[in-house]
Order: sequence, then C-alpha cells, then structure tokens
Amino acid sequence: MNEEQRLASQQVNTKSTSTAEKDYSKYFQSVYAAPSLKDAKRRGKEEVQYHKDFKIDEKFRGMGTGRKFLIRTYGCQMNEHDTEVMAGIFIQLGYEPTEDVKEANVILMNTCAIRENAENRVFGELGHLKPLKRENPDLLIGVCGCMSQEEAVVKKILKTYDQVDMIFGTHNIHRLPEILNEAYLSKEMVVEVWSKEGDIIENLPKVRKGHTKAWVNIMYGCDKFCTYCIVPYTRGKERSRLPEDIIQEVRSLAAQGYKEITLLGQNVNAYGKDFENRNYRLGDLMDELRLIDIPRIRFTTSHPRDFDDHLIEVLAKKGNLVEHIHLPVQSGSSDMLKIMARKYTRESYLELVKKIRKVMPDVALTTDIIVGFPNETEEQFEETLSLYKEVGFEMAYTYVYSPREGTPAAKMKDNVPLEVKKDRLQRLNKVVNEYCAEALKKYDGQIVEVLVEGESKKNPEVLAGYTRKNKLVNFVAPKEVIGELVKVKITDAKTWSLQGEFIEVVSSQEVKA
Ligand code: 5AD
Ligand code: SF4
Repeated sequence: MNEEQRLASQQVNTKSTSTAEKDYSKYFQSVYAAPSLKDAKRRGKEEVQYHKDFKIDEKFRGMGTGRKFLIRTYGCQMNEHDTEVMAGIFIQLGYEPTEDVKEANVILMNTCAIRENAENRVFGELGHLKPLKRENPDLLIGVCGCMSQEEAVVKKILKTYDQVDMIFGTHNIHRLPEILNEAYLSKEMVVEVWSKEGDIIENLPKVRKGHTKAWVNIMYGCDKFCTYCIVPYTRGKERSRLPEDIIQEVRSLAAQGYKEITLLGQNVNAYGKDFENRNYRLGDLMDELRLIDIPRIRFTTSHPRDFDDHLIEVLAKKGNLVEHIHLPVQSGSSDMLKIMARKYTRESYLELVKKIRKVMPDVALTTDIIVGFPNETEEQFEETLSLYKEVGFEMAYTYVYSPREGTPAAKMKDNVPLEVKKDRLQRLNKVVNEYCAEALKKYDGQIVEVLVEGESKKNPEVLAGYTRKNKLVNFVAPKEVIGELVKVKITDAKTWSLQGEFIEVVSSQEVKA
C-alpha cells in the first residue's frame, strides 16, 4: 500500500447512528473520487509497485474456525476470478465454504456495475438477505466488486441497507482479513474503498472453480475511456503483471493438470504498454506461453485498437493458441464509434478482420454490441446489422445501452425511445441467432476436439464441453472422461450448441502435435 492509499483507506464506521440525516460528504472526499473523466485521465503515470510477499497476518489465522462463507458473484470473468482469490483468503483464515445462505456466517456480494439491471439485481438480493440478518445477528454481509467503487451506490447502501456490515472496493480485496476483523470488532458498517488503484499483488491464495479450466489475470484496469463505460473508473488505470509471474503461474497450472487457460484483462491488447523498461506486449507473451505444455490458451477481452500485427503473427502459429477471437465492435457505424470514443472506424475494423483472416482463415470471431446508444439513428443501427453480416460473427453478446452515472455518455441528450432500443435489440438478436445456427450447421458430420467440463446442466446422463472455438458440445460418454480432451463426431446442430457421439480420448501425443 502506498501513502496515498493509506490516507484514502480510512475506515468509516457509520452504523450506530441514525443514517437518514447524516452528511457523508466528508468521507467521500477522502475515500472516493466520483467518476470523473477529467480526473481519471490525469491519473498518475507513476510506476506500479509489485508486491510478491503477500501473507496473511498470523493473528488472523483461525478467525474462520467453525464459520462458513458464501460469495455471490455477478458480472464478468474478472469478478469470477476475484471471487476465487477471496475464497482462497477465506480458506486460509479457516472458514469453510457453503452454498446455503442460512448456514453462512459471512455472505459477500461481488458486484458488477456495467449496466443498471446488474445493479438492481444486487439491491434486490440485499433486500432478501435482511430477514436472515434479523434471525442471525452474527451474520456478516459484505458488498464488494465494481458497485462498491461507485460513490452513489455506497451512499445508497449507507442510507438504506443497514443489513450491510462491510463495503470494500476492487483494489482492497487483499485486505479482506483486516476488513473482516474490523467488522467483527466494531459491528458497525466498515467502508474501505481506495479511489486510487492499488499496486500489483502477487501470490494471493486462490481456490479455483474446477480443475480443467483456469483464469489468469495478465493486467488490471482500463485506460480506454469508451464514453459509455464505467470500467476505467471502477477498475482504475492499466497495470500489467510481469511476464515472468504470468508464465510461472501458467506453468504451475499446467503441472497441476489444468488443460485450458483464459488470460484475463479488461483490454488485454494494451498488455505491456505500461512497462517502463521493456518493450514487451501481448504478442510477446503469447509467443512464450505457446511453448508451455498445456493444450489450450485463450484471452479475453480484446480491443480492436491495440490488436497489433505481431500478435496476429503469433496467433497464426496456433498450437495451443486457439483459433477463436472475441473482438468487441460495439457498433457498425463510424459516427457512433466516434461518439463512443472507440478510436477505430467501421473501415479499420473490417481491415483488421481481413488481416486476421488472411493468416487464420478458419478463425471464429465473436463480438459485443451495444444498441440504442444516445441518438443512434435507424441508418446507424442498420450499419451495425450490415457489419455483423459482413464479418459473419459466430456469436455476440448484445446489450441495450444503459447510462452509467459519471460517464460522458450519461450526460448526452438521448432522443431514442426505450421501445425503439428494445426493438433494435430484438432485430439484432434475430441476426445473431441465424448466424450462430449457420456457423454450427457447418460442423455436422465433423470430428471435433472437446474439453469435457462435466455433466450437462439439463441432463446428468449427458456430458458437456467446449471446442477450441468455444462451441458447446453435448454427448454421452463415461464419466471418467470429465476433465479430458476427447474426440466427438457431430450428429446434430442446434441454435446454440452441438450434439455428437463420443469417439475416444485424445492421446497426449496428439495434443502436443
Ligand atoms: N451499456 C450497455 N452495455 C455496456 N457495455 C459496457 N458498458 C455498457 C453500457 N453502459 C457492454 C459492452 C462491453 C460489454 C462487456 O458490456 O458491449 O463490451
Ligand atoms: Fe470499457 Fe472495454 Fe472500453 Fe475499457 S475498452 S472502457 S472496459 S468497453
């Protein structure tokens, strides 16, 4: 922790007095910066400190003896992975995991702020937890993740959700032992949110979900400031982990038998931009990871702007680098892209796709799209539909624009009625479904390699897994193949998934080939 963070991390105890009339502004000046593009863009270029000696203080060990924890996770893979880290800390403190809210002694809500409906779900859930708190006053309820980085959200919780005992931010996860300890001692609401991003902390404990696929952070934060997006404010400035730490983590996961790694970052193509003394970018990292004996490596999520030629050249070497790229386009209209501050045009996006396809003709491209951005015209929306078809995306996550307080777009006047936005979403989804079904139909009769994850959600007699291009495949096979790479012959294609017949387990020689 640096000095600035220490100052900003003053803990705020508020619960003992009536919260209705209380003036919280004095806390927020020191603890928070409300989202502000001007301030955030000025944020420090000071060097990131790497801490490799994370250790839980001896005095906290045993804190969880006889206690159970439950973490509810909302949002993206970054949050899922943060949950794995917090679970690791809980276990080291002696807590046991539980899935049952009635059994839990600590419940954490790891929240997402990307759209309003994600936030509303969390507020609804907090309401449901209130009676539990009445039944069990020893229960601790905490709110963490992206919502806790927003001043308005924290004010709302302080004012109306007195069942909450702790609020802590995305830069404070490693302080979980201290925060829990404070919450037990004071029994008052503990707020610890650093408005400035933290340094990079290595060697945090993790309890990973599953033994087949693992997430590995390669960078934190985002400096792109797309005008609609809250992430650069909730996750702070871009900071890259050192390549040697990432490589060591991937090697160790390979040795533990993991078969697939997903490299995580809000904008992985900016990896390495913040290094002062080395010229080392995502292409260089992938070129080294490619040599590790692990069957599959993917990354998410990329920004078209920083997708450089060297990266494309390295990805074309394939091997364990899969031929699937998630490349969010957001809109097919250059005018919209400009107002979104995406820093590329329809034409340059198409040019990039062409470059990628030239060296990887069989690549599967998927994307993210926002419809109904302020003042989006029918023609501009139709440009999105036509771009979708021109690229021939195989799948997309599609969203109606949701204003996020403090972002530049939230201040824009908007003349597009909600019904029109919803109608555009439906029209887009129709195209997305058609293209998805079309892409899957091509697999009929083919033999594909599937990494078996487990029983299918709908039918425990059926197993489910994903291909290198991230297509879901269902098939019947003995349970022993869970966690293995297998060959499956595709017999039927649905809109979102494939069905097939199990052939055999892929031998390790074939995987290496
Ligand atoms: N409204 C709607 N969708 C959004 N996204 C990000 N911010 C918003 C917003 N304010 C979408 C983008 C991004 C994905 C993770 O979420 O498409 O790529
Ligand atoms: Fe948000 Fe992604 Fe844009 Fe960063 S690059 S501001 S995370 S949409």
